[in-house]
Amino acid sequence: MTSVTIKDVWKYYGKTMAVKELNIEVRDNEFLCLLGPSGCGKSSTLRMLAGLEFISSGEVFFGDLKVNDIPPRDRDIAMVFENYALYPHKTVFENMANPLKLQRMNKTDIKERVVWAAQMLEIEELLQRKPVELSGGQKQRTAIGRAIVREPKVFLFDEPIAHLDAKLRSHMRGELKHLQRRLETTTVYVTHDQLEGMTMADRIAVMHEGVLQQLGTPGEIYNHPVNEFVAGFVGEPPMNFLDCRIEGAGDSASLVYDNMNLALGGEQSRILETKGAAREVRLGIRPDDLTIEMGTDHGLELSAKIFVTEPLGGDMLIEADFGQDRMTIKRKIAELGQPGDACGIAVNSEKLHVFDRDTGEAFF
Ligand SMILES: Nc1ncnc2c1ncn2[C@@H]1O[C@H](COP(=O)(O)OP(=O)(O)OP(=O)(O)O)[C@@H](O)[C@H]1O
Ligand SMILES: [Mg+2]
Repeated sequence: MTSVTIKDVWKYYGKTMAVKELNIEVRDNEFLCLLGPSGCGKSSTLRMLAGLEFISSGEVFFGDLKVNDIPPRDRDIAMVFENYALYPHKTVFENMANPLKLQRMNKTDIKERVVWAAQMLEIEELLQRKPVELSGGQKQRTAIGRAIVREPKVFLFDEPIAHLDAKLRSHMRGELKHLQRRLETTTVYVTHDQLEGMTMADRIAVMHEGVLQQLGTPGEIYNHPVNEFVAGFVGEPPMNFLDCRIEGAGDSASLVYDNMNLALGGEQSRILETKGAAREVRLGIRPDDLTIEMGTDHGLELSAKIFVTEPLGGDMLIEADFGQDRMTIKRKIAELGQPGDACGIAVNSEKLHVFDRDTGEAFF
């Protein structure tokens, strides 16, 4: 059990800057997700925590202990990568026992630990099999088992379930979260999959081009993204964006797009004024915060035409066009609507976000 502090950490590979001035404190027992697109510096960060990558500048602490110069094997961490390599000629038991053997633990204790981990991961009946006789998920659990037998201070996961099929991934998300809660081990989990971050993490650190964008709970990140990048990266289907103009001032501003005139609340208007928003802004609205009505007689703010409808089972995704723009709407409606059909779209004005068009920063 320990906290992990990343203090002013930079990572360069030659002239390539992979991580810029990163500051994150992972709390004791916390499940923290490093989330971001490919190349944003997640693995570099994790590998610096593991001691597998030199820290160009800055400090990493486990609790109060600075670990910059401590070699990986002495950091008391366990790592699971996407391409975990199990020993092919060893059984599941032997694979899991290996780290304990290296620690020269006695045979009885090793057996107890391995069986304990196998029970927790529900792979007890597989202990005598070789990796080639396992499914992807079973191999994955074996790799995780090998990591947890030692009861390390910190778990470091790098996209450990990325290559599994969708159903198994969803199952493993629940399992890993449950396991982390049970073991109460501080965890840093790298993923590019926003759904993994949202479903598993206590807090998410969203990164982009080596820079931390926002650190917060899944709820904070989803409901109050600090900029357009975070807003667009988190949430599926992604947030809709629309260039609008602000009209009015004081506490009665509105957002104008073509014929749409969306009155903002008093507080929203005041925030735009206090923060000195330019007239040209970008509106952000999630597909769940839009409503749709079919026909021309809808009385809603935006008149549009159906581009395509995608039934999801319970919900329906509707993409609708207006002017040069297109929005995705997610609703529980039975009516399919045909491409080209007229419809109206209404925006839930309490749920909208407004961004600076130049910097991408959120006003709210
Ligand atoms: N060993 C290396 N040598 C040179 N450049 C590297 C090296 N490792 C990573 N980089 C570069 O550093 C940046 C960050 O890479 P990193 O592997 O940390 O990204 P990532 O967020 O883990 O991406 P992914 O989701 O694709 O795994 C990238 O621009 C990458 O090309
Ligand atoms: Mg990576």
